[in-house]
Amino acid sequence: MVVRLMLQSTTGLLQQAKDFLSTCYAELEKSESCLQERIEEVEREIRDTGTYEHTYEELQHGARMAWRNSNRCIGRLFWKSLNVFDERSARSPQEVKRALLNHISYATNGGKIRPTITVFSAQRPETEVCGVRIWNHQLVRYAGYETDKGLRGDPDSLAFTKICTSLGWHGDASEYDVLPLVVQVDGQRPEWFAIARDEVLEVPIRHPDCSRFAELGLQWYAVPMISDMALEIGGIRYPAAPFNGWYMGTEIGARNLADRHRYNKLPEVAEVFELDVHRERTLWRDRALVELNRAVLYSFQESGVRIVDHHTAARQFEQFERTETDAHRAVTGDWTWLIPPVSPAATHIFHRNYDNRMVTPNYLRQPPPYPPIIET
Ligand code: ARG
Repeated sequence: MVVRLMLQSTTGLLQQAKDFLSTCYAELEKSESCLQERIEEVEREIRDTGTYEHTYEELQHGARMAWRNSNRCIGRLFWKSLNVFDERSARSPQEVKRALLNHISYATNGGKIRPTITVFSAQRPETEVCGVRIWNHQLVRYAGYETDKGLRGDPDSLAFTKICTSLGWHGDASEYDVLPLVVQVDGQRPEWFAIARDEVLEVPIRHPDCSRFAELGLQWYAVPMISDMALEIGGIRYPAAPFNGWYMGTEIGARNLADRHRYNKLPEVAEVFELDVHRERTLWRDRALVELNRAVLYSFQESGVRIVDHHTAARQFEQFERTETDAHRAVTGDWTWLIPPVSPAATHIFHRNYDNRMVTPNYLRQPPPYPPIIET
């Protein structure tokens, strides 16, 4: 029974490997004989070891394909420009930390943000335990606290902040404390590492024509680096593979700083613009949203940090749809995520349908590595 299960899963793996290699090698314009040779090699490796290892080229192109297949991402036009760091041999928390700090500085690049992924060791097929697992949702994110006077910081980080505190980390309880990196290797107790403030590029938010706006003291970090998703290529799963692009303004201006369950800043923004907040029909929320989004785009631009507005992003996505069609590939997408949260109907995306089928390689959500916090 055990043997049969093992056989079944390795034939499944072999099929996924073949599918991936065929597409990958065709896209890289490699010869048929080169592909056949590689498939035979992988076949032997799977038979002998139960798994196989990607070459750097396969890893690089696979990670790029995974971006191309990310149904929720509006920024996919740039999938070919993804920089891929191979850190599959990093074994200790120290080594992982070094690689993560390297990712942060390379990707940040003083504001000329470079789309980057760092790939750590693959999950061994015979175990549930991951070699490397990063506990952060993003490499850089702000802490959230419950205080006597209510929530402080980013409420979305409450649970993870508690984990960090229980591991011995202490924040300053400010609105914008950068959380530490939390790294777990081989199922052992995770280790945390503070990120020096000068390694994190941040942007103070000001407004192009309202000087009082700066009084709100809003800020955000420059680079969104998602670190809790698994990369899957050809049946191989990489549970730690942090990646980044650059921000679209609305992610910060219409969600992170605006959502009621996040920083909830619309009432304060309305105040500096002296909007009438007592009647919904003045559309003060909408007006505050637009001004906050103008401020985010303006501030990133002034600070020399790459960012894209949602109209430009939608046009770039339209171009992606064209180039994919020209390459005889079907575009998949998740409409509910692709439409921007402000003025969605002003983009073409709103007015068409997308097939939300999942194609691999891809980035997958995975269960959180830490237990849920039980309040006592
Ligand atoms: N929406 C997330 C945030 O606001 C980031 C998701 C990835 N975004 C991106 N532009 N690559 O932090």
